Amino acid sequence: METKRWNIQRETEINKQFISEAAALLRAGETVAFPTETVYGLGADATNQLAVAKIFAAKGRPQDNPLIAHVANVEQFQQLVDNLPDYVDDLIAAFSPGPLTYVVESNGVCAENVTAGLSTIAVRIPDHPVALELLRACNFPVAGPSANISGKPSPTTADHVYEDLTGRIAGIVDGGPTGVGVESTVISCRENDVVILRPGGITKEQIEKIVPVTELRNEIVDKPASPGMKYKHYSPDVPLWLVDGDTEKIQKVIAEERGKGKKVALLARDAILELVEADVSLSLGSSLEDVANKLYDNLRKIKKSDADLMVSEVFPESGIGQAIMNRLKKAMTAYIS
Ligand code: TXA
Ligand code: MG
Repeated sequence: METKRWNIQRETEINKQFISEAAALLRAGETVAFPTETVYGLGADATNQLAVAKIFAAKGRPQDNPLIAHVANVEQFQQLVDNLPDYVDDLIAAFSPGPLTYVVESNGVCAENVTAGLSTIAVRIPDHPVALELLRACNFPVAGPSANISGKPSPTTADHVYEDLTGRIAGIVDGGPTGVGVESTVISCRENDVVILRPGGITKEQIEKIVPVTELRNEIVDKPASPGMKYKHYSPDVPLWLVDGDTEKIQKVIAEERGKGKKVALLARDAILELVEADVSLSLGSSLEDVANKLYDNLRKIKKSDADLMVSEVFPESGIGQAIMNRLKKAMTAYIS
């Protein structure tokens, strides 16, 4: 399949012609990747079972892992559900459009494979002008997992999508690099409280101002609250070690491995890169927001270096740090403390 590519620069006016071509392909039951504020999504008409099946095929995604339905506004959201807990309106007013995904009872409007047969559906309104323009042009919910081959780091640029999926999907809408860099927060909306199924762009601290957040208890591996939890994720092409300690400790681990003849890459903020000697430096900037924004690109970049091992610092688990550490712990092969 030839993968069409439309370049839409965010600084300029959005090219309506490109949007309507992409929407037409989606309406025709094809898959098109599009930018969101978190990562690129791989879209298909969520009401069309055959179209949605193409997402699973292109990504090599396990059939029991449900997808997020993306909508442009509250009206489209309401078409997918019969009733919502009262506090959801307040969450929507505070955080949508934005990186928050609501898992709520489905009314069955979306195709069965979107929800992988569950009674609930995940819905979100992305905060990205190109995504919103595309969703408005479609006027149907667009199912969209991250636009990567299953198991690989999520794509934060159109090039990442191209790398993984060219020839397997009908198109890519290139809206430039994404902002947040890690995926949306997924919450299960229970009657009087929410459970965070996946930490992400909206933090626990932010949600708690509106509705009680209940911690997820230790999951039984076979029956996770969110099917996505049990799968391997974000795997870089070389082993990733998280080193929990100061720069001296990180330096010691790296020196030991280099002593054995390994080429070692260090994935860290600039303040640490300046102090520690490694063969390859992978910069995560300075703030935790920078780290989130640069993480997946660096996990992908490693394969273009000749490093045998990647060592990362451990980040504080507050604010966006919760999402960062959640992803790194899934991507790592060892935790050294
Ligand atoms: O930021 C994001 O959320 C991106 C962009 C493209 O919107 N999308 C994304 O989709 O990360 P995906 O498919 O990679 O992750 C969706 C997560 C999965 O872990 C899935 O298991 C969970 O949401 N999920 C979807 N529907 C669910 C449901 N009904 N109940 C529980 N978990 C659900
Ligand atoms: Mg994903």
